[in-house]
Formats: sequence, structure tokens, C-alpha cells
Amino acid sequence: MAVYGQPIAERLSTKASVPFLQPISMTNKKIAVVGAGHLGRIHAKLVSSIENVDAVVVEPAEASRRNIESEFGLTTFADLSELDFELDGAIVVTPTDTHFDVATQLLESNCHLLVEKPICGTSEESKQLCELAEGKKRVLQVGHVERFNPAFVAAKNSLNQPKYIETVRNTPFTFRATDVSVIKDLMIHDIDLVLSIVNSPVASVSATGTAVVGPNYDMAKAWVEFENGCVACLTASRCSYVGDRSMQAVTQNGHVSVDFAKQLVKTVTPVPSASARLNAISTYEEKMRAKDQMFEKWLPVTEEKVTPQNAILAEQTEFLNCIETGSRPTVSGWDGFAAVQLADQIETAIAARSASATQTRKAA
Ligand SMILES: NC(=O)c1ccc[n+]([C@@H]2O[C@H](COP(=O)([O-])OP(=O)(O)OC[C@H]3O[C@@H](n4cnc5c(N)ncnc54)[C@H](O)[C@@H]3O)[C@@H](O)[C@H]2O)c1
Repeated sequence: MAVYGQPIAERLSTKASVPFLQPISMTNKKIAVVGAGHLGRIHAKLVSSIENVDAVVVEPAEASRRNIESEFGLTTFADLSELDFELDGAIVVTPTDTHFDVATQLLESNCHLLVEKPICGTSEESKQLCELAEGKKRVLQVGHVERFNPAFVAAKNSLNQPKYIETVRNTPFTFRATDVSVIKDLMIHDIDLVLSIVNSPVASVSATGTAVVGPNYDMAKAWVEFENGCVACLTASRCSYVGDRSMQAVTQNGHVSVDFAKQLVKTVTPVPSASARLNAISTYEEKMRAKDQMFEKWLPVTEEKVTPQNAILAEQTEFLNCIETGSRPTVSGWDGFAAVQLADQIETAIAARSASATQTRKAA
């Protein structure tokens, strides 16, 4: 069972023995972490540990600022307008409904950005932000941190050409991110992962969901069909008494299972002509032997090697490398936009299903 209620700091801060993203040699960078709540504190701690980074924190809540100053020894400001120096980059970790305004203000001052997921609360805002960043020729990276989860990194090659993907992301209720639905809070991670491995437009979406604490959906299940025939079934709940962050995929080559919390990857790769050879077995004894040897001889299960790394540190390192070199981040603003677009489609599908159920009840 996945670790229930384990704080994100612990989940994401597996000590990096061999970081998969090596920082390149770079000039000094002035980086602001904007928003020092639950996740902003972690960003501040990690980014300030990177060589050649001069980090400051912008946070309106005084108690949080004092805490950051005493714990990490960083300079803090109550508002962006107080900064009387130029920033090279900023990490936006404010509530989702403020991302657009905060990020726009920073881009207008020519700052490169890493914006936490979801990039913005709506598709329209997300698109506008991407266009602004493009116009300003600034890096716009989105904090879909599971792309840097070492388990996903290890599984990536095996996840080639998926036919069917099932994702589950369940957590207990934390009272955080309730300004958005569970689709834009949790499922958005899996939406991004699925879009990153299925190279095809979305053909149709059906979904169901419910608000448990509310006011937004706290549980949701979506069935997404792609034009190339791949199907993804995504489940998310932030009112679950059992934690789970996992993905199962059936690909051209077999089956892949990823546990994001335990950072485990298992693959099942059938031996050549397994189906024909198994179907050719005729005697009872041979069938029993094949049954006992199924996952060793016929459909061998392999545990992939996962190289531990701190996923947030890896995405920050990539952000700094992109500022230095002008290269495109693994998760661009447009990737963030695509995830929000599909999240919007899922929310619309849930609302349509609820409306049609209400009509059916009224008519009965
Ligand atoms: N990548 C992940 O796995 C992950 C995990 C948790 C949260 N998040 C995202 O990070 C963002 C923040 O989440 P959180 O849980 O840290 O929220 P939080 O409420 O704990 O913290 C938000 C902080 O932003 C501050 N703030 C509000 N408006 C501000 C402004 N205009 N300028 C500067 N600071 C401002 C608040 O005072 C607060 O301290 C959300 O978008 C959330 O979706 C991502």
C-alpha cells in the first residue's frame, strides 16, 4: 500500500545519489520563489541549495516570511513591487487562481518562469500566458513534477506506443487546492503524463465525478479515447483513506506498471510467439507446468532499475539550464496548456452527465 498522507516534501525528496539532470556551468542567477506556502517552502529550500543561485522569496503572509528567513536564511519581500533589482527567473507557487496575474506581471518584466501546475485555472488564461512568453522569448516551464519522478523516467522507454493506460491518484483530504477541482489539482498530473506518451489528438471524453467536501469535484473518473485508438482511464480522489499514485499501461510490447510513490517499475514482456506456443499446449501436465512458469518463462516480469533523484530539484535544475541555454523545457507552457484543455473537457463531461441525470430524474 502506498504511504498514506506522506508529506510531499518526503515523497519528493528522495536523496539524489546520481542526479539524472546535471546542472551545467552557469552564471549567477537571481531567482525569486513567489508564494511560500506548503510547496513554495520546499521550492525555496531546494533552489537556494543550487550553486550559483541567489534566491529570494516573495510572500504576503508575514508569519511565513519570518519562517523562511529564520529557517533558510533567505531575504523575503511581501510583494513583487518591492523588488528593486532585476530577476533572471521566478518560480510561481501561489494558489492556482492567481497564477495568471502573477505570471503575467513577471513575464512583463522579462523574467523566465517555472509555474507550478496547473499552469492556470482556465484554458484561455493558459493559452494567453504561453503566447506572452513566446512573444517575450522567455522560458515558460510548468511544474508537472511527475515527469521527473525517477520511476517515470525509468519507465519512459517501455511506455512506447501504449494501447491502454490506467492511472490512479488518491490522497486524503488536505484542505489545500480547493480553489480548483480534483481534476486540476491531482488528475492533471496524470493527464500530463498520458499526453506525454500518447502521440495523438483526443477523440472523445466521458467522465463522472462528485464533490464530497466541495464546492468543487473531489473525486473523478475519466475515459479518454485518442484518434490512434489508445484509451486512457484516469481516476483521482482527494477524499481517499488509502493513498495511491500509480499507472498501468498495455503497450505493443507488453505491460508496464509504475508506482510513483514507491518509485517502482515492473514490466511484463511476453516471449516471442507466446500466445501461439501457449495455445498449442495440449496435455494437462504441460498446461500446469506452463501455469507455474507463466511469469518466469512465458510472460517474464522484470523490475526496472530506478535511479533515485529529487524530482523537484531535477525540474529546477532543468529550469536553470533552460534559462542559461534557451532550450525548451521537458514540460513547456504549451504542454501545461494541453493538460488544462483536457482537464476542462473532463470537467465539462462531468457537468453534462450530471445535467442529463437531473433531467432524467425530473422526467421520471
Ligand atoms: N507539483 C505538485 O505536485 C504540487 C503540489 C502541491 C501544490 N502544487 C501547486 O502549487 C501551488 C501552490 O500550492 P500550495 O499547496 O503551496 O498552496 P498554499 O496555499 O499552501 O501556498 C500558497 C502561498 O502563496 C501565497 N500567495 C498568495 N497570493 C500571492 C501573491 N500574489 N504573491 C505571492 N504569494 C502569494 C499565499 O500567502 C500562500 O503562502 C498551486 O498551484 C498548487 O496546485 C503543486
